[in-house]
Amino acid sequence: MITRRALLTSAATGAAVPGMLSAAAKPFPKGFLWGVATAGHQVEGNNINSDLWPQEHLPGGLFTEPSGDACDHYHLYPHDIRLLAELGFNTYRFSIEWSRIEPEDAFFSRAELEHYRRVLAACREAGVTPMVTYSHFTVPRWFAMRGGWEKADAPGRFARFCERATRSLGDMIGYATTLNEPNVAALLDWITLPGGQTMGQMLASGRSAIRKQLGAPDFSSFVFADGRLSLPNLVRAHTQGREAIKSVRAGLPVGFSLAMSDDQPASSSSRIEEKRAAVYGPFLEAARKDDFFGVQTYTRAVVAEKDLLPPKDAELTQTGWEFYPEALEHTIRYAAQKTGVPIMVTENGIATDDDERRIEYIRRALAGVQRCLDDHVDVRGYIHWSLMDNFEWNSGFKPKFGLIAVDRETQKRSVRPSAAYLGNIARHNAL
Ligand code: BGC
Repeated sequence: MITRRALLTSAATGAAVPGMLSAAAKPFPKGFLWGVATAGHQVEGNNINSDLWPQEHLPGGLFTEPSGDACDHYHLYPHDIRLLAELGFNTYRFSIEWSRIEPEDAFFSRAELEHYRRVLAACREAGVTPMVTYSHFTVPRWFAMRGGWEKADAPGRFARFCERATRSLGDMIGYATTLNEPNVAALLDWITLPGGQTMGQMLASGRSAIRKQLGAPDFSSFVFADGRLSLPNLVRAHTQGREAIKSVRAGLPVGFSLAMSDDQPASSSSRIEEKRAAVYGPFLEAARKDDFFGVQTYTRAVVAEKDLLPPKDAELTQTGWEFYPEALEHTIRYAAQKTGVPIMVTENGIATDDDERRIEYIRRALAGVQRCLDDHVDVRGYIHWSLMDNFEWNSGFKPKFGLIAVDRETQKRSVRPSAAYLGNIARHNAL
């Protein structure tokens, strides 16, 4: 691990920093977006009006620890944005927190909107293009209490928020994405747990327990939602959200992002096409009318007759996913073919304590992006997950996805060699 000071010193003296490019470096297209990503709830801290906050504090709940102060990015964003710009990145993908901006149904906080205007201004001052996600998993607690995405009027409520937020912030946003990975609930039905239950079934029983514990009979929160009800509403939320954003600023590019694994058939009787239809189908269809589409890929999935097979004899990352950077190339090609719109890699990364493996993962993933570009696939940018170690949802702070390490006692940031490596590629626009 190297500190920011060390990084800047070596850059100033010209001493070799990780990722110094060779003369044979291969360029990316001019104007390619090089970014890093975070999500509000995972880094800001004290997101107390969100649906997740009470769940994190339930005794015997699914969360290993609460998000608490997280990385205190809510206060430290000026430093974090300056740092990412100094590293060489020209794009920052982050989310605005709906529960801060609309903490009660139809009550909008001007002060919180002003906060996000300041975040956007910090990006612009640093020469960084902001890509804003309007909802990255979390929703306001009031919205979850009344049934969340399961309710037919949910898309309308989300669109109202999109319209209000765009009125205050839209002039400073570079790219807008409505929802982050709205297809996750569909994916859970394909994952079988050791006892034979699917993850979807396990979470469904968790849903009843949470409702009882919170004394809220309609409570419905992202992964715990009943997918049969929530998934069609999420598709509508995206399209209505997009229209709401465009009604304020027609020229603002709008898209959304999906969780996509590189699906590979286990045998000739694999249900791969069924899986793709269930997990991506309606969303990829909706994306055809967007300005761009966000691919979020971490690994591959081997699809058998019933479900996904666990990785065999493979190097695993801290999240138990197979180390398989080539997955990105395959999902980009698939998404480009299905949507027909420009592709933005909005997330790709690896949870590891071994930063050299992170560098290797990035190098191979980017080589795949270049092969797509060589074949004239329209890829506009690569945004790495994540800028810094953060709250990895129910796994807490253990998995390390960050290009930057965070000491949670002191909130001190330490730049890892992988940040310098990817930052150098970004700066030179070449691999
Ligand atoms: C999510 C992130 C998450 C990452 C790693 C993506 O599915 O958008 O919020 O931290 O994967 O698990």
